[in-house]
Amino acid sequence: MYFPTKEIKNSAWVKDKKIYKQAEKNPIKFWEDLAGKLFWHKKWRKTFLHKPPYFQWFVGGKINITSNIFENNFLGWEKIKNKNALIWEPELVEEQSKTLTYNELFREMNRAANGLIKLGVKKEDRVGIYLPMIPEAIISILACARIGAIHTVVFSAFSPSALKVRLQDTDAKVLITSNGYYRKGKIIDLKKNADDGIKGTKVKKVIVVKHTDNKVKMKKTRDIWWNDLIKNQSDYCKPAIMDSGDTLFILYTSGSTGRPKGTIQSCGGYMVQAYWTGKWIFDFHQDDIFWSTADLGWITGHTYSCYSPLLNGTTFLIYEGSLDWPKPDRWAQIIEKYGVTIFYTAPTAVRMFEKFGAKIFKKYNFATLRILGSVGEPIDESAWQWYFEKIGKKRCPILDTWWQTETGGILISSLPGVGPFKPSFTGLPFPGLKTDILDEKGKSLPSNKQGNLVILPPFAPGLLSGIYKNPKKYLKTYWSQCGKKIYYTSDAAYKDKNGLIRIVGRTDDVIKVAGHRFTTGELEAAINLHPNIRECAVIGIPDKIKGEAIVVFAVSKSENVSLKEKRSPNIKEQIKKQVIIQIRKEIGPIATPKQVYLVRDLPKTRSGKIMRRILKRLFTPLEIAGTEKKRKKNKSLTGFTKEKLGDLSTLANPEIVEKIQRILKKSL
Ligand code: WT7
Repeated sequence: MYFPTKEIKNSAWVKDKKIYKQAEKNPIKFWEDLAGKLFWHKKWRKTFLHKPPYFQWFVGGKINITSNIFENNFLGWEKIKNKNALIWEPELVEEQSKTLTYNELFREMNRAANGLIKLGVKKEDRVGIYLPMIPEAIISILACARIGAIHTVVFSAFSPSALKVRLQDTDAKVLITSNGYYRKGKIIDLKKNADDGIKGTKVKKVIVVKHTDNKVKMKKTRDIWWNDLIKNQSDYCKPAIMDSGDTLFILYTSGSTGRPKGTIQSCGGYMVQAYWTGKWIFDFHQDDIFWSTADLGWITGHTYSCYSPLLNGTTFLIYEGSLDWPKPDRWAQIIEKYGVTIFYTAPTAVRMFEKFGAKIFKKYNFATLRILGSVGEPIDESAWQWYFEKIGKKRCPILDTWWQTETGGILISSLPGVGPFKPSFTGLPFPGLKTDILDEKGKSLPSNKQGNLVILPPFAPGLLSGIYKNPKKYLKTYWSQCGKKIYYTSDAAYKDKNGLIRIVGRTDDVIKVAGHRFTTGELEAAINLHPNIRECAVIGIPDKIKGEAIVVFAVSKSENVSLKEKRSPNIKEQIKKQVIIQIRKEIGPIATPKQVYLVRDLPKTRSGKIMRRILKRLFTPLEIAGTEKKRKKNKSLTGFTKEKLGDLSTLANPEIVEKIQRILKKSL
C-alpha cells in the first residue's frame, strides 16, 4: 500500500477521508450539493427520481453543458478565457502543433454550431462524427451539444460496416468526417470509408475536414468542406436550453450479437459526474496539463479528452497518432515537450512501454508529472510497479480507475490526496457511490470473497439512461440478474478488509483487447458473414501486451471447397486470411485475431450450443506451456486429461475435442 506524498496531499482538492462518511449518509443530498456548483438555467425540481429500471437525476433542471464550459464556467469566464483549452499534437513530427484558448474554442464551436443549423440540424437530431484526433473532433462534439443535437462519435479506425450500423441505428442525417488522417506515417483515406459507410443510411450531408493532402471525391449535392461551411458563420450561437434528462450523446459499445448497443447519456447527470470526477480524481488545477491517451471514439475520450477537463478549465492535450511513432519514446517526448502534469493511459500501453525497455526512457525525468492514471482493464502488479517507478519515479500516485462506457465517468478509484494506492486494486467507490459484491443468489459477500460487482441506488448521475431504441436490451443486460433496482456491471470483483475493490474481469462474453471491448458474439457474427465460413467460435486468450487476444476457430463451408483443395495447406491459409480480412472489414483492424484455426467442427452441446469454455481450456495450457521443451518437462501439459477440460459428457461430439487439440499442438 502506498499513501499520498505530502506534496500531493497539500494540493489535493480532497485530503480527508471523512468525505466518504459524509457522502454515504445521504448520497442524493451529496450529489445535489455538487450539482449546485454548476450553472443551471433553471434549478431542478427533484434530485433523484427512481422508476426501476429507469431513474433520472436533477429532474426538471435546465442546462447546457457548453455554457458551463465557456461563458458560464464555474471558475469565471474572464479567468479562463485566454488560457489554453486544447493542445493538439500531430503525428507528423515536422507538422506544427496547434493550441486553442478557451475563447478560440468557444468561437470555433459557435461557428460550427451555426454551420450545423444552416444544414438544417435541429435539437435532438443525431449527428455522426467520424474523425481522427484533431481539434475539429472536439469542436464538432461541442457544436452538437451547443444546439442540442445528439452526437454519435464513431472511432475513426472502425470499418465502413461498423460505421454503417451505428448510422443506421441512430438515423443520423449528417456526418462529419475528414479526408484522411495519419497512422504510423501512412495516410488513411477516411473519406472513402465514410462514403462506403453511409450507403444504405439516411445521411444527407457530409461535412469534410481537410486534414491531409490526399485528394478525395466530393459529391456536389451531399458533401461540403468544413471550411466552406463555417467560413461566414457568426462566432456566437445561443445555447439550446436542455432538460437535464435530454440526451447529450449516444455511444455504441459491444453487444452480445452483431449489433452494438447505443448507450444513452443525459445532459444533466453526465455533466455533474464528468465535472466532479475529473476534479477530485485527477485533481485538476489551473496550471495542469492533462493528457489522456484515449481516442474520442471511446467513452474515455468523451469524458476525459473533452468534457471533464473543459468543465474544469484545464488545459488538455490530444495526440493524433500512435504512442510509439516514429520511435518508441514518442509519448515520453510529448510529456516533456508540453510539461504534462497528469497522464492517463491504459495498462496495455504501460506494458508496451515496459517491453521497449526502461533504457529508452532513461533520459526523460518526467519532472512535471504529478499524477498517473490507468483505465480499461485490470493493471497487474508488475505493470503497476513499472508505471510507478519508471514513469512516476515513485512520486506520483497511480489512480487505477474503474468504469464502463455505461457509467459515463469514473466510479471506482482512490482519490489522490487520500489514497491508499494498492497495486492491482482499483480502490474505493467514489464518494456517494454504493457498490456491493454479490454471490449468484444475490447475497452480499464478505471481504476476500469473489462475486458479482453491482451498483446500488441512487447509482451515479452519469450512469446510462437507456439503450437507444432497445429498452428490452437495457432491462436484460443491466437490470435482470439481481432485479430492477440493482445495476449489474458484468464484472467479477472482491474487496479487501479495508473495502478496496479488486476487479477480476468480466463475467460475460466480453473480450478486452488492448482495452477495447468486444464480445465473442459480435466477432462471430462478423466472421459468419463470410460466404466460405459455415460457423465459428471466438475466444479470448491471455496476451502479454494486449491483456487478451482474439483466437478464432472456424469451420469452412465444404460445398465451396473441393476435397482436393481442402487438403491443400494453401487453401487453408487462404481461408484463414479471409477470416482475418473479414473481421477487419466488419469491425476494423483493432479486432484482428491473433490466430485462426480451421477445424472440422466445434464442440457443441446436444442442443447445439457452442462450448467456448472447452476451447478456452484447451488453449490455455498450451499457451502457458510455451516451448516444446517446457511442455515435455511438464507432463500434465503434454496430454490433456479429461478433468482439465471439465465435464465433456454434455457434448454431442466429444471426439472433436481431441482433434482440435492436435491442431493446436501442431501449430505451436
Ligand atoms: C470494462 C468496461 C470506461 C473505461 C474504458 C473501458 C474493464 C475498465 C478497469 C479497471 C479493471 C477495468 C471492466 C469494465 N475495466 N476499467 N481500472 N480495472 N477493469 O470501458 O470498454 O466500456 O469497458 O472494462 O471489465 O466492465 P468499456
